[in-house]
Amino acid sequence: MSVYTIFGATGLQGKSVALTLAEHLGPKAHIRAITRDPTSTRSQQLKDTVTSLGAQLTLVKHDLSQQTTAALENALQGTEYLFLNSDSFALREEETRIMQEVVDAAVALPNLRLLLWSTLPDASKISGGKYTGVKHFQQKARVDEHLHRVGQKIAWVGLQLGWFAENVGDYHLLTEDADGTVAFKYAIATAETAVPWTWITKELGVAALKLFEKSATVEGLPEDVLRKSLPVCGWRATFGEVVAEFERQTGRKYRYETLGGWGNPELDDMNRFFRDFGLYEDWTVPAEPLRKIGVPSPTLSEFVSDYLVGHKV
Ligand SMILES: NC(=O)c1ccc[n+]([C@@H]2O[C@H](COP(=O)([O-])OP(=O)(O)OC[C@H]3O[C@@H](n4cnc5c(N)ncnc54)[C@H](OP(=O)(O)O)[C@@H]3O)[C@@H](O)[C@H]2O)c1
Repeated sequence: MSVYTIFGATGLQGKSVALTLAEHLGPKAHIRAITRDPTSTRSQQLKDTVTSLGAQLTLVKHDLSQQTTAALENALQGTEYLFLNSDSFALREEETRIMQEVVDAAVALPNLRLLLWSTLPDASKISGGKYTGVKHFQQKARVDEHLHRVGQKIAWVGLQLGWFAENVGDYHLLTEDADGTVAFKYAIATAETAVPWTWITKELGVAALKLFEKSATVEGLPEDVLRKSLPVCGWRATFGEVVAEFERQTGRKYRYETLGGWGNPELDDMNRFFRDFGLYEDWTVPAEPLRKIGVPSPTLSEFVSDYLVGHKV
């Protein structure tokens, strides 16, 4: 049995990883789920689902914002495979320092086989200093830089995520007009803005599983994956193309509407960055190095048909 520790295990990303590991590895996996509250409904539901799939799950209490060396050592105890996600909007400007501490502690683990870090690129750098307000991108990119500095002796991969497909439902982006047209409303980005999409539920967990499995083989991870940050994104599409795919599958009329902003300067800057610079433009997605090691990629068409099963518009 191998020990998999997941930070952010009760969230969208961590849950995708925990459930995929449980589903594919069953009793071969001991999952240590890091949470601030092991008694919460989300924690208990995760435990029930993972154990029903035959894997072992231990809920480990750890609050990143109250982190001490002893608490961190306890959180990481026995870890062989590590998935790290931190919530930028919960940790704010402390995210970089806190997650660099986690990386430092992980690097010192005696049995660590692979560290996966869920990350984003530096929008300020890519935009040549035009968009300096996309703090959560920068916070995570600084942790990548730290990994490059201190992680030369361990195996790690940065998983750069795209625009979550789950945003469509989670943020209620589709609404119905009085005439029955379905409107996809989103801020600042236009119908021509193309972003790479990550369908977390279907994509992130399986990418983590494949990377963990490959890292455990004799040949290990290939050079174009090891100690690199690379996009885990199934497809790139403009918002106009997404709306067209909904129309194609439903036969209904859809339209895309650009809203002025969300009233959140950081998110508005992020969407200006997407509009003007795209995301991971130096990559063709799905990324070939991940495809080569067997990471499957869902498509826009699959996402839309899956979404339509669970939602009215
Ligand atoms: N939406 C997008 O399109 C998009 C795209 C790329 C990247 N992202 C990034 O995704 C991240 C959020 O990931 P997610 O969607 O998986 O999050 P989520 O579903 O909102 O869950 C947040 C997770 O963080 C944990 N957490 C929060 N504060 C914590 C603390 N102080 N100590 C320990 N754990 C803590 C929560 O655990 P407990 O509540 O159980 O403690 C929970 O598991 C953000 O940083 C965002 O920048 C989002």
